[in-house]
Amino acid sequence: MRSDKKDILGLQEMPIADIEEILDTAISMKKLLSSGTKRTPHLQGKTILCLFYEDSTRTRLSFELASKYMSANQANITASGSSVSKGETLLDTARTIDVMGADVIVIRHPMSGAPHMLAKNVGASVVNAGDGMHEHPTQGLLDMFTIIEKKGSVEGLRVAIIGDVQHSRVARSNIWGLQKMGASVCVAGPPTMMPREIERIGAEVFDTVHEAVTDADVVIGLRLQLERQKQGLYPNAREYSKFFGIDQNKLRLAKPDVLVLHPGPVNRGVEITSDVVDADYSAINEQVTNGVAVRMSILYHLTRR
Ligand code: NCD
Repeated sequence: MRSDKKDILGLQEMPIADIEEILDTAISMKKLLSSGTKRTPHLQGKTILCLFYEDSTRTRLSFELASKYMSANQANITASGSSVSKGETLLDTARTIDVMGADVIVIRHPMSGAPHMLAKNVGASVVNAGDGMHEHPTQGLLDMFTIIEKKGSVEGLRVAIIGDVQHSRVARSNIWGLQKMGASVCVAGPPTMMPREIERIGAEVFDTVHEAVTDADVVIGLRLQLERQKQGLYPNAREYSKFFGIDQNKLRLAKPDVLVLHPGPVNRGVEITSDVVDADYSAINEQVTNGVAVRMSILYHLTRR
């Protein structure tokens, strides 16, 4: 990458030039994916290891496919099937992987900062695939890629992020990343799910979804992160959906050509209605396809250092 950084830990710290370079290469990777070849020699001889301490469908599978499409050696380690369940520390597990010859370690961990700690202690490049409630930079990049694909640019857009902002690493990466690239970002969600620091990082906070989506170019829905909530932060799903769910009615206030995104997995009928998920202005499926292209680009740049 242009900045010669070893790791991808977050969009807060990522230079604009690196973001641009990753997104640019992802365009070629996407062309390659749709050409039907799905095989390049770019990562021949490289080893990519995915170390997942939390559940994942899209992120893990897209790193796995990205590695395989580019001819890398790739393996997955999950907490339950490894020595982690025998009490090994994260650092010892990672050092073991490192000395086995990993070039890139992709890690998802419930603790904020876990990938940063690893990055300082291993020779391999480390990619943060989600650290607690902190960041999910590769999701932020694929969201940005999808927005640029649909809107031409991020600059000057009004982006509304709706839902459980407090527990969402996707929200933080998007706020940092999209603002850096020239968008204005606002958020709305129940007060119990709105962290105090959010205004400090530049996002305007609204009490209602109606206010947040008014004139929005892009609306990003977030899943209710029940696994991170200590106690019920909202009375029930029906009420949540009425006030904070994204539906056709609320979207009428947005720009006529609004684009709707959601990182998945989606709770249909809770944070977003089923008809919005499947509408032609929703790019939720394209986000998944773009996730493979963006991760191919990331692995390509990290292994060329
Ligand atoms: C997100 C995550 O794990 O942070 N999912 C994803 O990577 N696509 C969002 C979520 O789980 O709600």
